[in-house]
Amino acid sequence: MPYSKQTLQGSRIAYLDVLKRLKERVLSTESYGYEEVHGVLRLHLNECLYSPPQHVLEAVSRAIAEANLYPSLDMFNRFRELLAKYSGVDINMVYPFPGADGALKTLFYTFVNPGDVVLTLRPTFSMVEIYSNFFGLKKIYVELVDGGDSWLADFNKLSEASKRADLVIIVDPNNPTGNTVFSGRKELLELIALSTKGFVVVDETYYEFSGYTIAKYVNDFPNVVVVRSLSKAFCLAGFRLGYVIAHPEVLKNIIKTSTPFDIPTPSLAAGIAALENLNYHMKIINKVRQLREELYTALKSMGFRVYKSYANFLLVKDHRPLDEYLLSRGIAIKRVGEDLYRISVGCEDAVKKLLQALGELV
Ligand SMILES: Cc1ncc(COP(=O)(O)O)c(C=O)c1O
Repeated sequence: MPYSKQTLQGSRIAYLDVLKRLKERVLSTESYGYEEVHGVLRLHLNECLYSPPQHVLEAVSRAIAEANLYPSLDMFNRFRELLAKYSGVDINMVYPFPGADGALKTLFYTFVNPGDVVLTLRPTFSMVEIYSNFFGLKKIYVELVDGGDSWLADFNKLSEASKRADLVIIVDPNNPTGNTVFSGRKELLELIALSTKGFVVVDETYYEFSGYTIAKYVNDFPNVVVVRSLSKAFCLAGFRLGYVIAHPEVLKNIIKTSTPFDIPTPSLAAGIAALENLNYHMKIINKVRQLREELYTALKSMGFRVYKSYANFLLVKDHRPLDEYLLSRGIAIKRVGEDLYRISVGCEDAVKKLLQALGELV
């Protein structure tokens, strides 16, 4: 019997009455809309199209035999230790989360109360808006400016608006525009970190494709927290691995609702194996960066309006329905605005297939 029928017949409280008990901020939040696409080239989610390396797969298959037990604290600590080494910070400054997304959610729990003010650049990663709505925050935006070749953040406006914000969220490199915001520059971070009365979260999910980071400044500005991911550069999106880098005393508070069991054993095994042998990942990162530049140049020479990107995707501005056209050619991309399309770089074959399909359009 379908679940809804069971509750309707068996329940002594009408679910519509129960819904009224939910907070307005929860009821009015739109959830993340996603429909699966099948049998097509996936260039719509900024995924890594290279499979994880053999040593990661082997480590995972060894780990699943222990899945009857809670994840081991030794593995958790080893993963944390490797993350610290990789990030060039002390172990007490880094903590794993289930994806960058899991980290972001926890930072909202930690830093804001309903009615607080959140500031972001716009457009940016869709989950920022969703969490802001869910937590009942007042949203203020600084619009990124279309500078022709790249999207620009107005730091005067940003630092002015930061004064009113309890939480500033900067995605750097930004999704979907691909621009870098701080370019790793301490003085730009300082402008925001010292202006705001609250916290600054810098989402560096695409860090490896830009090479820029402000993680080394979190001790200078303890109100700055960095979020990172192993989904993109490490080709481990299915394992849901992310982490936070923060001042040790701030981090102690961020992790108050976390347990060492939040990351599944196979994911810990994957993360450890990946970080113990970085060679494969460094090659992938270099390859994606090279393909991104090649794709950018090729699209430009075909007459497309494409923006410089520091991530693993490119943003294209076009008045034609590029998403529909490419889907009909077996390629999924993401429409992110009226005439804006975000396209993952993918791998060599993906770039070839994409350029061929777009070549037939122009
Ligand atoms: C800016 C940004 N932050 C966070 C995430 C989520 O990453 P994860 O897969 O680590 O949860 C994404 C995913 O696309 C993203 O673009």
